[in-house]
Amino acid sequence: MKTIAIHSYRGGTGKTNIALSMAECLARREKKVFLVDFDLRAPSLESFFEYKPSYFVNDFLTGRCDAKDVFVKAEGFNDGLFLGFASSEIREIKEAMREDKRKQMKILSRILNGKDLLKDEVDYLIVDTAPGLRYSSTNVILSSDLVLLVSTLDKSDLDGTKRMIEEIHEILDMPHFVIINKVPEGVSGEEVSKEVGDKLSQKMICTILCYCEVMSLRGRQTIFHQQPEHPFSRAIEEIVDKIS
Ligand SMILES: Nc1ncnc2c1ncn2[C@@H]1O[C@H](COP(=O)(O)OP(=O)(O)O)[C@@H](O)[C@H]1O
Ligand SMILES: [Mg+2]
Repeated sequence: MKTIAIHSYRGGTGKTNIALSMAECLARREKKVFLVDFDLRAPSLESFFEYKPSYFVNDFLTGRCDAKDVFVKAEGFNDGLFLGFASSEIREIKEAMREDKRKQMKILSRILNGKDLLKDEVDYLIVDTAPGLRYSSTNVILSSDLVLLVSTLDKSDLDGTKRMIEEIHEILDMPHFVIINKVPEGVSGEEVSKEVGDKLSQKMICTILCYCEVMSLRGRQTIFHQQPEHPFSRAIEEIVDKIS
């Protein structure tokens, strides 16, 4: 099993769209994929589906269920795609915001145990993380084989991504790649490279343009699911080629 964390410095860079699209892409290639919403403060995978799962990731983290109980088969997708949702109940979100070290150490051990139980049954575990530098994301990063960092060209986003790489990814020696998303039309490849600087350029595996069609789906569906030939979808295929 390969575990891939999709992370970013800021929210809204496109992590959930990219994570779900990559998961579907791998499932179309006949892989068994578990996609899990680990953005416990702002769950968003649920907006793409209408499931009422029996258990949430939160239940697994607090020992109320096993890792396998969280995952439900994605209906209307290729056979191999399974989803784990985060709870959007305010009580659970408040609990997720408690970042004390003891609790997070327990969570790290739960994640590692959960991964161990899944490892023989799953080809890819894709984790959609919470943005920024926080324990919950560091736990996921520590438990992953590869981290994909999604940034836009916004200065604060790029600066934050560079800092994050220096502060965690290089220290933890994690394999990581950068995806620059929402590049405005008309910005050349050279301009992107200049803007992101040497540090990120070396790690950049893909740029994705900004498409109104993606936004017009309003977080209810991915363009990847709807239009496999769309340039966004082709960019996802390119990323999956590079990491699989
Ligand atoms: N390449 C893109 N072009 C245009 N809009 C995009 C693109 N990627 C993501 N978006 C939009 O950006 C917003 C945030 O995306 P989302 O995947 O929820 O990000 P995150 O999970 O990082 O918060 C959504 O409205 C989504 O439709
Ligand atoms: Mg998200």
